[in-house]
Amino acid sequence: EKGTYNHFMLKEIDEQPFVIRNIVQKYQNDDGDIKLDDDIRSAISDADRLYIIAAGTSYHAGLVGKELMEKAAGKPTEVHIASEFLYNQPLLSNNPLFIFISQSGETADCRGVLVNVKEKGYKSLTITNVPGSTLTRESDFTLHTYAGPEIAVASTKAYTAQMAVFSILAMDGARAQGIDTDFDAIRELGLIANAMETLCDQKDIMEQIAHDFMFETRNCFFIGRARDYHVVQEGALKLKEISYIQAEGFAGGELKHGTIALIEDGTPVVAVTTQEHVNLNIRGNIQEVVARGAKACIISTEATKEEGDQIVLPNINELLTPLLSVVPLQLIAYYAALHRGCDVDKPRNLAKSVTVE
Ligand code: F6R
Repeated sequence: EKGTYNHFMLKEIDEQPFVIRNIVQKYQNDDGDIKLDDDIRSAISDADRLYIIAAGTSYHAGLVGKELMEKAAGKPTEVHIASEFLYNQPLLSNNPLFIFISQSGETADCRGVLVNVKEKGYKSLTITNVPGSTLTRESDFTLHTYAGPEIAVASTKAYTAQMAVFSILAMDGARAQGIDTDFDAIRELGLIANAMETLCDQKDIMEQIAHDFMFETRNCFFIGRARDYHVVQEGALKLKEISYIQAEGFAGGELKHGTIALIEDGTPVVAVTTQEHVNLNIRGNIQEVVARGAKACIISTEATKEEGDQIVLPNINELLTPLLSVVPLQLIAYYAALHRGCDVDKPRNLAKSVTVE
């Protein structure tokens, strides 16, 4: 039910703070601590390398999940697009664990990989939003994202939920391996939920940005570095799939290797900068595009902000900033599509669940 909302997408964006709090609750034990099932914990600990397999938005969550597993839990991790992995497998480690991320749990490309790795005797874990879905039934272990049904074709709350579950997996993984870390997923997710709420109360700002930057444009570029590069790929996907504006997410440093040729007077460029160690670099990239006529919309944090930035997020653990920085990108995409008269919840040519290869 949409309730007072005109679109499921906006409702689902607004649900994100509740979803994040719900995940914390679901994965907390009676002592208020996080502890995953022993079999999942051992599967992660025993693996010498994790292979994350996913498609679309779930793949983008996987990019962030990889960073969490490597940086917080010290586990070497690769991320692969399911349809690519299926026909072009990399060399595998001796004892891999496959992690499938899928909102629907039905994506045929993922299932193809699952069937294949099962035949080879490898263990698998599915992170999904749909209990009882094909991937959970066929893999060894499951972690649920508890985001509730996602109806809009463009995925929003499932993406942030997938990353939140990864933060819990990473925290548990760190502990299981005796890694001394101050990474506290429960605390961070609580801060994120509160900050998401504030962002969802600022819809007028996002609507104005969509109006000023995207109303008439034919294309739009998104740039970021490191974690912000992962989130801008998702921001570009959101915008293109519902507004039909050609949108691409690029690593800031790659611009000068080709894409900058496309910048014209008035081309919108959305830049995300949430990490201090690359802030100066991306600021340089922003100057490069602005000097060629681009209109820059900048999303930063209290730690990286400069005067004139359109959106300033509160400081949270840098490993988790995509959970927060994606919210304005989702809202901007929503309003851009709305202003352009698009069918927000049911974009042309797309299906919610892609059950053919
Ligand atoms: C984008 C979107 C798709 C899905 C992709 C994978 O908004 O919804 O890119 O993310 O089709 O779907 P799942 O996660 O169900 O495997």
